Amino acid sequence: MVSRVIPVDSFDLVIFGATGDLARRKILPALCQRFAEGQMPPEARVIGAARGDMSRAEFQALISDAFDEFMGDSAPDAETRASFIEMLDYVPIDAASDQGWAELATRLRPDVVRAFYFSVGPSLFGSLATQLGKFGMISDETRIVVEKPFGHDLETARALNKTLAAHFDERQIYRIDHYLGKETVQNLMAVRFANVLFEPLWNARFVDHVQITVAESVGVGGRGPYYDKSGAMRDMVQNHLMQLLCLIAMEPPYCFEPDAVRDEKLKVINALDRVLPTDIVRGQYLAGADSASYLTEVESPESLTESYVALKVGISNWRWKGTPFYLRTGKKLRSRTSEIAVTFRDPPHSIFGETVPWRTNVLVIRLQPDEGMTLRVMIKEPGPGGMRLKDVALDMSFADALGDDMHIPDAYERLIMDVMRGNQTLFMRGDEVEAAWAWTDPIIAEWQKSADKPKPYDPGSSGPEDALMLLHRDDRRWREFR
Ligand SMILES: NC(=O)c1ccc[n+]([C@@H]2O[C@H](COP(=O)([O-])OP(=O)(O)OC[C@H]3O[C@@H](n4cnc5c(N)ncnc54)[C@H](OP(=O)(O)O)[C@@H]3O)[C@@H](O)[C@H]2O)c1
Repeated sequence: MVSRVIPVDSFDLVIFGATGDLARRKILPALCQRFAEGQMPPEARVIGAARGDMSRAEFQALISDAFDEFMGDSAPDAETRASFIEMLDYVPIDAASDQGWAELATRLRPDVVRAFYFSVGPSLFGSLATQLGKFGMISDETRIVVEKPFGHDLETARALNKTLAAHFDERQIYRIDHYLGKETVQNLMAVRFANVLFEPLWNARFVDHVQITVAESVGVGGRGPYYDKSGAMRDMVQNHLMQLLCLIAMEPPYCFEPDAVRDEKLKVINALDRVLPTDIVRGQYLAGADSASYLTEVESPESLTESYVALKVGISNWRWKGTPFYLRTGKKLRSRTSEIAVTFRDPPHSIFGETVPWRTNVLVIRLQPDEGMTLRVMIKEPGPGGMRLKDVALDMSFADALGDDMHIPDAYERLIMDVMRGNQTLFMRGDEVEAAWAWTDPIIAEWQKSADKPKPYDPGSSGPEDALMLLHRDDRRWREFR
């Protein structure tokens, strides 16, 4: 197959928090893949930084072990991997003090793109920005990549935006939401805006409702006490589900440029209705035969934080008024599934009598597992016996469509290369994040005022019973977990 990889220009990338979970599991494997595919130039520099006092060789050994653990079958051949590891450098640094910063400055080149990846706890984002300014490391070609969570609420997000803005222009700030880097999510835009087929139907007249599901089968595990301070609404809805909703609901941007796309997403967030308390269900998972309950895992028996949330969201604009968007996300559910399902309305009149099943046309965009799309359509059941109808799936799995030898890039691969290219289309703008918090905050404030407990649900189930009712009462059903 002819390679379509376009190499990026040389760069210096500093990863703060390079010894942490995210860097070892996602960021460095993603860079290694891009290196293997020839997109990352061999003269690029990748410098790890964390407080741990270790030599360059020790850091390289740590990352080599991480590749063994996390890259599995997708790892490039040993020679390529060794060449990539050989490029890695390390500087011990403390984000919260002056230690190590002068040394880091000496390792950077003046005339290449310079990116700083903030893969540390959010309380350090402000210090990192300040230290980069103090030690003169910010040039016009400098970019920063900021991990989630971006703030805890509107007030903290605003404060963080302000701190970053004191040192960087908005065009230099890349707020990452890795959902936006997923192939299928980008494909969603391709399906909507590169085909004439769907757009005429993409409105309240033809779409009955939309379901967005991001389900995890694991619990909070060792992150319990940390997770308990946020919950599903802050951890998942305010960012990932909101971004997916925006891509489904936005108007066609006038071009595929960062601000054109982000302007349209912002309009969707601003048009979201305030969610009524009766349109939200929160849940907490119970103990299973061999697993602890949410309350045990977060070590807080009275906690009111949700490990599951389902909500019905309305959008007040001409396109969507009257089409509900149902969102749900949670931990310890039946399977690890992320998908968007757009259910179209019934035909206005059936010439086949009552044999036509109900709301059959569904476009499902699968984010995981098995990225791909399915469109359910009605056909005649083959063979004799009159006009019996059957709904079938027009299925496109990316793995099948692209062939076994095609590597589907992980979201981080795409996003990090976009940073180097200077393309912010798949990153959140400051005003977008603030608008999302402005919508989320009153919902959380309502919960905090009431002493209502989240509804219990069994681990391995599809969530609390009440979440089923959220759709049943509208004469609709959640899709089964795959
Ligand atoms: N892990 C994930 O799957 C995931 C997913 C999405 C977002 N995130 C976000 O990504 C960030 C990193 O998460 P993580 O899971 O990788 O955390 P982690 O495993 O706890 O790693 C934190 C890293 O930061 C370094 N660090 C801590 N304090 C520091 C300081 N004062 N100066 C310099 N380095 C310091 C640590 O090394 P030393 O202790 O040696 O300094 C370590 O390398 C967080 O903001 C998290 O919310 C993580």
